Amino acid sequence: MLIIKQYPQELEIPYHLLLDADPSKKLVDKYLACGILFGAFYDKEPAGVCLLIFHNNITAEIINLAVLEKYRNKNIGKLLISFAENQARLWGFKYMEIGTSENIVKYYEKQGYKYYKTKKNFFIENYEFPVIDNGIILKDMIRLIKNL
Ligand SMILES: CC(C)(COP(=O)(O)OP(=O)(O)OC[C@H]1O[C@@H](n2cnc3c(N)ncnc32)[C@H](O)[C@@H]1OP(=O)(O)O)[C@@H](O)C(=O)NCCC(=O)NCCS
Repeated sequence: MLIIKQYPQELEIPYHLLLDADPSKKLVDKYLACGILFGAFYDKEPAGVCLLIFHNNITAEIINLAVLEKYRNKNIGKLLISFAENQARLWGFKYMEIGTSENIVKYYEKQGYKYYKTKKNFFIENYEFPVIDNGIILKDMIRLIKNL
């Protein structure tokens, strides 16, 4: 059975998942230090993670979302997104943001997210190495938002 919950602090940080969504350990550690990590578990095995950070009193952001390859296309990503949204809503947040690359935009649009801006050259300016997704070097970050 799949259980989604706040990631237990006594467990090792699931870098194998977090670095799949964001290859910069420096950035992952920065977000872990100020965010809340949720995990989807099959028994004790982490099948997916979702990291939530907060910009102000009304806006939260899913800054990292990853599902273990063998568990993909089983709705775990969608369940993690809605778990994070429900938590943020309960805590009084009004908006959820996501920053992503062009090829995952459709995935988030299906979960109700809408385009609101492009951060030109984000991946070039914020990473010390080229970030490659599906064989393409990423340049711009697409920012999406959803009313909670
Ligand atoms: C993106 C990711 C989290 C999706 O998780 P998942 O649990 O496999 O997704 P779900 O099962 O919830 O959703 C599957 C649906 O999304 C679609 N989908 C999956 N990845 C997609 C992508 N990159 N672009 C568009 N659609 C995608 C599937 O085709 C499927 O569509 P359907 O519902 O119409 O059948 C997962 O592929 C992953 O971990 N990728 C690597 C890390 C990553 O890129 N994270 C996002 C960074 S912003």
